Amino acid sequence: MALFPFDDRDGFIWFDGALVPWRDAKLHVLSHGLHYASAIFEGERSYAGNIFKLTEHTERLFNSARLLGFEIPYTTQEIDDACQQVLAANGQVDAYVRPVAWRGSEMMAVAAQQSKIHVAIATWAWPAMFADRMAGIRLDMATWKRPHPETAPTASKAAGLYMIGTLSKHAAESKGYQDALMLDWRGRVAEATGANIFFVFDGELHTPTPDCFLDGITRRTVMQLARRNQIKVVERPIMPDELSRAAEVLIVGTGAEVTPVREIAGQMFTPGAITETLLDDYEKLVRMTPEDAAKRLAA
Ligand SMILES: Cc1ncc(COP(=O)(O)O)c(C=O)c1O
Repeated sequence: MALFPFDDRDGFIWFDGALVPWRDAKLHVLSHGLHYASAIFEGERSYAGNIFKLTEHTERLFNSARLLGFEIPYTTQEIDDACQQVLAANGQVDAYVRPVAWRGSEMMAVAAQQSKIHVAIATWAWPAMFADRMAGIRLDMATWKRPHPETAPTASKAAGLYMIGTLSKHAAESKGYQDALMLDWRGRVAEATGANIFFVFDGELHTPTPDCFLDGITRRTVMQLARRNQIKVVERPIMPDELSRAAEVLIVGTGAEVTPVREIAGQMFTPGAITETLLDDYEKLVRMTPEDAAKRLAA
């Protein structure tokens, strides 16, 4: 597959308050965010010109920054507007939207209290992450564990937390799997490397309690969609030896959307009716106007 590098594309990136030509959106190699992972980001999707749950994503961006000890130097409204602005400048309606914020170059040591906070927003076309969705994907078991919340700011979408995600995903891909299921430090089921996970047990939808990993916006949306369909939702600690009892397994996230899972490290599952209902409902919901989507979820 020919690579289409992300630093060599046409279009615009919103960078510290203004649109700049895509190839000019550069930072210096001596940036604290690069050396010390003092960076946080968001992942959003625009459908037919509406960024799904835009303000929730922006609020999480601000919260992630606070969890890393810095403030984004804009208002949430300014960041919401900037996301729309860069999408329009790139002439896109269906796209992935990536805001990122990081500490700059003023200080290059662990302490970086005086560093400037930078923010950039890029958008790019990103079709469904996994083709032939109902076929389901294959997950391996990761060897890395999601850390204790006193070990890392686990509620933040912090760049540093993706280090073990990338290692786990690479290990899984090298064995022919598409992704990996990560356990937490206690050995409980946590999530995939970039998406939350659900299981169908006895007709109910079960998902791990998000006490040391991201409580995804898609996760919360899917729980609402399930309840609207009179499917009971249970958040609880889930142990890996329970997986063999699951009738269906699915992962959910902005990138993954709703993706059925057909295998976890040799255990097979058949994507079924509950997964299909949630997948269809999610696809319809994200294509509604924000007002209609809010009404649908409130009904
Ligand atoms: C590690 C991780 N967990 C969960 C999620 C799902 O979060 P959301 O549904 O808010 O995109 C993501 C994706 O953004 C992620 O990277």
